[in-house]
Order: sequence, then C-alpha cells, then structure tokens
Amino acid sequence: MTLASWKRVEAEYARLGEKNLRYTAARANLEAFIWKAPHLEADVAKQIIDEGVMDAMQAVATERNLSGRIKSLFAGEIVNASENRPALHWALRGNGKGIPAADAMYREAEKAAAFARKASSGGLGFPVKTILHIGIGGSDLGPRLIWDALRDYFSDDPQIRFVANVDPEDFAEQTAGLDAKTTLVLVVSKSFKTPETASNAALAREWLVSKLGEAEANNHLAAVSSAPDKARAWGAADDRIFPMDEAVGGRYSVWSSVGLSLQIALGADVWSRFLKGAAEMDVHFRDTPLDHNTPARLAMMDVYVHTAAEVPSRVVLAYAHRLRRLPDFLQQLEMESNGKNAADRPGGRLSTTAPIVWGSVGTLGQHSFHQLLHQGTRESSVEFVAALDVGAGDKARGRALLSNAFAQAEGLLAGRSESAAEKELLAKGMDPAKAKAQSAHMHMSGDRGSTTLLLDDLSPESVGALIALYEHRTFAAGILWGINPFDQWGVELGKVLAEQLDKAIAGEDPGKRDPSTLRLVARARTRG
Ligand code: F6P
Repeated sequence: MTLASWKRVEAEYARLGEKNLRYTAARANLEAFIWKAPHLEADVAKQIIDEGVMDAMQAVATERNLSGRIKSLFAGEIVNASENRPALHWALRGNGKGIPAADAMYREAEKAAAFARKASSGGLGFPVKTILHIGIGGSDLGPRLIWDALRDYFSDDPQIRFVANVDPEDFAEQTAGLDAKTTLVLVVSKSFKTPETASNAALAREWLVSKLGEAEANNHLAAVSSAPDKARAWGAADDRIFPMDEAVGGRYSVWSSVGLSLQIALGADVWSRFLKGAAEMDVHFRDTPLDHNTPARLAMMDVYVHTAAEVPSRVVLAYAHRLRRLPDFLQQLEMESNGKNAADRPGGRLSTTAPIVWGSVGTLGQHSFHQLLHQGTRESSVEFVAALDVGAGDKARGRALLSNAFAQAEGLLAGRSESAAEKELLAKGMDPAKAKAQSAHMHMSGDRGSTTLLLDDLSPESVGALIALYEHRTFAAGILWGINPFDQWGVELGKVLAEQLDKAIAGEDPGKRDPSTLRLVARARTRG
C-alpha cells in the first residue's frame, strides 16, 4: 500500500517476523487480545499480531479516516461512490430513525411484517405450510444461513425450502413431495432479472398452475424486489410485492424484506430479537473508539494478516451445526465486497486484498482438510466460530465441540517437535530406529495463527450480532484497503457473456471469441 503509515506496518512485520508466533502467544497481557462486543468475544491471542502491530494499524486507520467513514455510514451519506448511494443495511435494524430513506424503509418493513402475520395466521386464503424461497447470492445465502441457525427443529411448519440453482434438478428436488395447496412461492430478487432466479420463478409458476390451475396460482405468489413491474408481470399481486431499497446491497440484505420467509417461518419475536442483536452491534461499531471497537480491530488485523503478512486465505470453521452455512455466507460477503484491486496502487506494491474465504463445519473439516492446516505449505488464517451453549443442551456433546475447537487452535499454535514425537513413540515401546524415522513425519511446525469467535449463546440476538459484526468488519477492511465494499462490478462481465453464449449454443453466430470457447460451444451444440 502506498500510505505513509503502511511503512510502519511493514517495519512491524519485519520486527515480528523475526520472532515466532509462540512469542506473541505467550502474552503477559492476554486480556488486551480478547476483544469484547455485544453477545460475543473475539479471542485473537493466538494471532500473528501484537501491540506494535495494532498501533501501526491504528495509524493506517487514522490515515484512511476510518472513524470519519464510520460516521458517514451511520449518517446515511454516500459511501458507495461508484453507484452514488448510501449503504443503509444497518438502518434496517432500527438505528436509522430520522434519516428519511431509513424512515421510508421502516414503513415498508411494517407492510412486510403485516404480510408475515397474515401468512402465518391463514389470512392468505390457504394455510402456509411451506415457503418456497427462490433467489440467489445475497437473495439466498443470508436467509439460508439464518433459517438453519434459528429454526426450531422441533416444530412442524411453516418450513422453508430454498431454490437457487438454474439447474432444474434443484427445483425438482425442492418441490418433490410438496403440496402446492399449502405452499407460498416467494421470489427474492433485487433486480428481478437474475437469470437463475427468473428461470426458477417461471418454473414455480408453471408448477403452481399445473397443480392449482391458472386462477388460483397467483394467489400463492409473493415477491421481494426493487423492480415491482417485473414482479407484477410474473403474476404477483401489488399487495404481495415488497420493495428492496437500492441502498441495501444484496449481501447485506438479510435484515430487509429479503428475510420475509424467515419472518413468516420464525415468527415476529425471533425476528425482532435477531434484529435487536444486530442493532446492539451497530451501536458498538458506531460509538466505540477504534482502539476498543471490535469489528474495526478485526478489520485492522485482517488487513495486516492478509496484506502485510500475505496470508492468502481465511478458513472459517463453524463448531456449531446451526452455523454450518456461515462459510458460504461469508464467501459472498467478504469476497464480493472486498475481492477487488485496491484503489491506491500507483507507485506502490499491488496490495493483496480480501482473502480467499473458505471453510466448513469444524468437526467435519478435522477429518478432511485440517491435515493441510497443520502440516501443509499453504498458510491460512484460521477462524474458529463457536458458542458457549452449543450442543442443544447435551452437555457432553456440546463440550466435545468446544474441546475440539480449542484443541485445533492449540495444536496449530504449539505444533509438535520431532523430538517430542520421538519421545511419544518410544514411550509406546516403538523400536528406536523406527521411532526416529517416523517422528520426522509427525513434526508439525506450529506457529499457525488463529482467531476464536466465541458467542455467548446461539440465541437470535447473538446470531444477529455475529452477522452484523462480519458486515462491519468487512466494511472497515474495505476502507483500510481503499476499496468500495458496496459495489460488485467484477460479477457483471460473466452475466453478459453467459447471455451471448446461451444464444450461441442455441445456434446463433457466436461471433469473434477465443478458440477454446468456440470449441466448447460446438461441443454443447451436440446436445441437440
Ligand atoms: O451476481 C451477483 C449478484 O448481483 C449479487 O450481488 C446478488 O446478491 C445476486 O447477484 C442476486 O441478485 P438479485 O437479487 O438481483 O437477483
């Protein structure tokens, strides 16, 4: 990065690089690396940072005017410069009263809430037992994550089924055994022209018509979109079309009417508790000075880890079945927001920006890719996400989740020397020559950094706070990198090309293209 303050960060990296991570982990001031926020704490004591690094990153935050940018975000000013818009997702959680655009959103949210009440009390003219939620990207990943996180597994309905893929097998799978008479089809698409969603919306309408007839089908449709005309043309009645504000980006939109299926299925109480937890995180991010501001400090750490230390990826390991979709959600949130070239390139080293975010449920990953985390040559910053009440009241199994998460973090940090491995083998009675040979394979370097995000519990408030934390962390990291986290120009090219290639496969002149693509088009044409 070309910032004057970045020189200091590089100097800190050089200083710390000479010591190993165990130096940072043997912290006298442990509490300074446990960062608190509403409903959770971020334990970064095992990360590759220390006070010097964080002081240097504070200087970067000052030079980038992070505090001023946070103020602008919460004042509803234009923070999405390339699209000339504010970003108002936080206001959906309730802290935007008095900002005209936010007040308008509250009025719309009330209409959506009234519809949710109506749908759950049989007011639509049929009992809603299933909501078929159709959307993709930000119109899908947040609702999916929150449905799995907060659904009451022990009550019957309504249930939500999600369809996102343009592959009709997805639609077929999700509608298998579904009774159209008790299904509400909810299409969520800000643009209402995303091809995958448009295709599934058409399939859903055909399915309803085939089961219920033309006259009744439309009664089972509802839509969430910024393009009401298109939703109307699809068949949704005016009072069943709920707007999406242009100032709320798809990946930040679960709090809006994009979460309508959740509002219906989870109920108003759970929904408002979810928003409340997020609103508490908003207040923390808005009002806490940077040196105690957890999302901002996590962002500073991220920029240090992924840019100064050039760790290319972050693996998110959810040690809670309910949070199993968190890695998928974060992939879009972080990579679509900050997977961009930093704007401040001229003259400077090209900054590495958003990490490759990947991951899975931690206990499953342990039996799969954790081998690479412990002994592989490609580094990942590891993020454990757990909750104190994990395990649904089963004390022993909940404890197993926590002990596994903590053990992985400890092992990544401590590693195992060859001599320690040899001793272990000798103690088990192995022949000394064999023990020596085998211990070489058992060596683990250690010194691999990790963060543990520990939620107080898996309540709606805590889950809301967690997602808001990640949103603010992503925003702050974007500011530190010199990126606009609210646009996504990089995804547009593929959409345009797919439209052209669809026509080419159907038989139109493919035009001038690279030979490899032309050959693939020819292959696809053999489908007939
Ligand atoms: O292609 C990316 C994207 O535009 C995302 O940013 C968005 O969340 C998703 O597609 C879905 O868009 P829409 O809600 O307009 O269907």
